[in-house]
Amino acid sequence: MAPSENPSLHTVLFLLILLLIVPATNSIGVNYGTLGDNLPPPSQVAHFLKTRTVIDRIRIFDVNKDIIKAFANTGILVSVTVPNGDIPSLTDPRTARRWIDSNIKPFYPATKIHYICVGTEVLHWGPQNLVDNLVPAMKVLHSGLVKEGFDEIKISSPHSLGILLSSDPPSNASFRPGWDMGNLAPMLQFLKETKSGFMVNPYTYFGYSPANANFCLFKPNPGLFDKATGITYTNQFDQLMDAVHVSMKKLGYPDVEIVVAETGWPSGGDPANVHANPINAAAYIGGLMKKVNSGDGTPLMPGRKFETYIFALFNENLKGPSLDEKNFGLFRPDFTQVYNVGIMHAAQAPSPSPIGATADAPADGPSSSGGPWDDAPFFNKTTSFSGSPGQAPPASSSTGAPTIVNANVRDSSLATTSTSVVLAARFALIIILVMILFP
Ligand SMILES: *[C@@H]1O[C@H](CO)[C@@H](O)[C@H](O)[C@H]1NC(C)=O
Ligand SMILES: *[C@@H]1O[C@H](CO)[C@@H](O)[C@H](O)[C@H]1NC(C)=O
Repeated sequence: MAPSENPSLHTVLFLLILLLIVPATNSIGVNYGTLGDNLPPPSQVAHFLKTRTVIDRIRIFDVNKDIIKAFANTGILVSVTVPNGDIPSLTDPRTARRWIDSNIKPFYPATKIHYICVGTEVLHWGPQNLVDNLVPAMKVLHSGLVKEGFDEIKISSPHSLGILLSSDPPSNASFRPGWDMGNLAPMLQFLKETKSGFMVNPYTYFGYSPANANFCLFKPNPGLFDKATGITYTNQFDQLMDAVHVSMKKLGYPDVEIVVAETGWPSGGDPANVHANPINAAAYIGGLMKKVNSGDGTPLMPGRKFETYIFALFNENLKGPSLDEKNFGLFRPDFTQVYNVGIMHAAQAPSPSPIGATADAPADGPSSSGGPWDDAPFFNKTTSFSGSPGQAPPASSSTGAPTIVNANVRDSSLATTSTSVVLAARFALIIILVMILFP
């Protein structure tokens, strides 16, 4: 048989072509919070996300039946949340079965329920009764799902980065003593056995200072040097993710997937927080999407893709107390984009560029004048911020003096640009393969 007629070669080439034809579009998850009195009905939201955006998964902060129902048959993955207060009762198998009967069974699998998040940042917020019952409740819920035959639904629990004792340098990171062996090791063991992800909420926004603005925003900067590994970190997202990875490794669980359950940057805020603006939000979310979709991973986790949920879908006018909290949304309640970073399908017309702090910004951010950041003290903040309960991301602990950051509107187009380059490369490869296959 001539090599060109070898069926296995054809099969391999065919599979390669299939792989290449799969669209190279971005995809991303969002947190769909509902603390607004002007938000559109869930059915409109589901239709909008499915038809107009690259968002392929959502996470909600409760088990809102209207939302779960609205996403039926959309193909969009839906992760739901057990309210913190329900955790102790769910250690009872009968209660857990009843919970599944009323919150999951009526909607699954028409709605692709993906994760059940047991509580939100429970270790951080407590009280101890919830902390002690967290892993037992996760296990009992999982058994209940298995009994129903719903094995595909995963169980996890999102954590604030308050679980880290330190994150600087990443090579020296570890979980806080007490939580490490008492809660996180058993949780990681459970996640490993059930092939679920370890959920963390990294916010570089809360690690911001005028001096490290570019480091927080995926913009060019001198970087943070980690002496122990010889790695220079070029953005704080990588630093935080590797700090989590090192901490997991110290407990013996380096290979459990990490899910970014929340991350975001507000497009507006209290007057003191000048860095909460649409330019920075576009830079951060654009950089994040590029990072996540590139599949590059981080210095210590090369090639790993992180399932990622942006906080948040909408600006939520009932959140607070700070204005920042109301302005984390990608969209306004009328579905207009707050800034454009490639969340809409490529065919959609971009929404107007963000206005505001642009042209007059100093050309040089303070960070560019600094030396290597191996011992920069402003990184203390990233591990000592305090979050806020429920669905709220942590209230900002940043007290930096008002400063116009080094804004650059063009950053917001990075994600789109890289996507078209990838598409062109794939198209060329397809043509080459077709020529090999059908000479
Ligand atoms: C490593 O972390 C520990 C605990 O936070 C700290 O005491 C120690 O100084 C750190 N070492 C380095 C080299 O940063
Ligand atoms: C970081 O820690 C150093 C030493 O403990 C302290 O002097 C400095 O003020 C801290 N910086 C911040 C931003 O918390």
